[in-house]
Amino acid sequence: MSLFIGVDLGTSAVKLLLVDETGKILNSVTKDYPLYFPQPGWSEQNPADWWKAVQHGILQLTEHTDKSLIRGIGVGGQMHGLVALDEKDAVIRPAILWNDGRTAEETDWLNTVIGKEKLSALTGNIAFAGFTAPKLLWMQKHEPENFKRIAKIMLPKDYINYRLTGVHACDYSDASGMLLLDVEHKCWSKEMLEICSLSESQMPRLFESYEVIGRIQGFVSGALGLPRDCLVVAGAGDNAAAAVGTGVVGEGGCNISLGTSGTLFISSQRFGVDPYNALHAFAHADGGWHLMGCMLSAASCNKWLCEEILKTTDYAGEQVDITPDELGRNRVFFLPYLMGERSPINDTDARACFLGMSMDSSRSDLVQAVLEGVAFAIRDSLEVAKTLGVTPERSKLCGGGARSPLWRRILANVLDLPLDIPQTEEGPGYGGAMLAMVGCGAYATVRDCAEALVRVTDTVEPEPELAARYEEQYRKFRLIYPALKMLFPKLK
Ligand code: XUL
Repeated sequence: MSLFIGVDLGTSAVKLLLVDETGKILNSVTKDYPLYFPQPGWSEQNPADWWKAVQHGILQLTEHTDKSLIRGIGVGGQMHGLVALDEKDAVIRPAILWNDGRTAEETDWLNTVIGKEKLSALTGNIAFAGFTAPKLLWMQKHEPENFKRIAKIMLPKDYINYRLTGVHACDYSDASGMLLLDVEHKCWSKEMLEICSLSESQMPRLFESYEVIGRIQGFVSGALGLPRDCLVVAGAGDNAAAAVGTGVVGEGGCNISLGTSGTLFISSQRFGVDPYNALHAFAHADGGWHLMGCMLSAASCNKWLCEEILKTTDYAGEQVDITPDELGRNRVFFLPYLMGERSPINDTDARACFLGMSMDSSRSDLVQAVLEGVAFAIRDSLEVAKTLGVTPERSKLCGGGARSPLWRRILANVLDLPLDIPQTEEGPGYGGAMLAMVGCGAYATVRDCAEALVRVTDTVEPEPELAARYEEQYRKFRLIYPALKMLFPKLK
């Protein structure tokens, strides 16, 4: 028997899975770490916290296992975060994360002065505040001493891979979100590096997600009790890893993730760009490409409402009063822009709000509005895909939010799409383990591995009458942001 460790380096926690080569999950462990919001709209984490959590996680995960059977590790991680190392490979400052909105000025400069057309020609994408390139420009301007010390930049999961192997590596799917990669040709864009005052020597080496970057270092093997020949693959951005984990590989598959962020992911074997650049054109972990819409706050909206406002962690309890006849009839609406928004509106100033409340509005109407608002915002990205002629007929669903049967039903009807629920909703961690299996030769390709391992256990079908009601609700939702857009910058 061979065993593999899949790691999902998330925003609120790292989740680790121990999986055998038949895809059976033998154990799983979650370790939290802090997330800092030093100023409104900023979002940071300490790479040392990630590494500590991963080490403790691996020790706990493998406690009662014959560790000599562990052959490989694959990490899927939160994308775009800037990890900057000095010449001694020490972390220069806390990582600036994917949902950090401090770079509005730099993003604007890239999109207007360098110009969206040029950015799109060089990278397949335009600038969004969460992407890595605007963060580098921000650092150059606001922390020039730190910027001068940069010897290597990398993304969050690459830092874990570096600590495991000593190798500075990055895979194409995650590198796509830096705005420094020529996504079509899978190489660093010299012009983009120049625009950001970087040289290629400061960049990690590029790999396909399933390629082996190295063996774990001797002292790591000693400390974690893993075999010295345990291999580490390049891994992937969490959305590409999740798509692998839900079997969305090859042409035309669709995966929706309801995690801290909410994403709509459409796989393709050809490189293609959204001419409006509202959807990202990124490389996939199976060797191909994908289009992706990413909303910055998805399951985190529900977490915020329950934990910060209603002061409860009983998420299911908050949903029991939402009866079926209330679905599609809520007069309360919620704009889910707690951290500004990326796809498709690209607006760092946008903020969340409840609208339409009256004296008879109840607590559960607000909870329902949050679940619906997130579903409507995912639909916004689906609508962009449709304008490009990309019309998925069904989608996989994963992420913590997918555990709520009510939320699944709302989403299936708002999108009017059947949603297939895979056996494991731990998309990125499972995908990470699958990439490790391919890297270690247990399967020839990512596709073979997905065909052999991924099983759908449930499908949520849209219901015609409810989908029609949600169609009307969505039309109303679509009126809200354009009416408020001009107001948000004035509320800062
Ligand atoms: C994708 C994105 C998020 C993070 C969350 O572009 O920014 O999905 O990867 O982990």
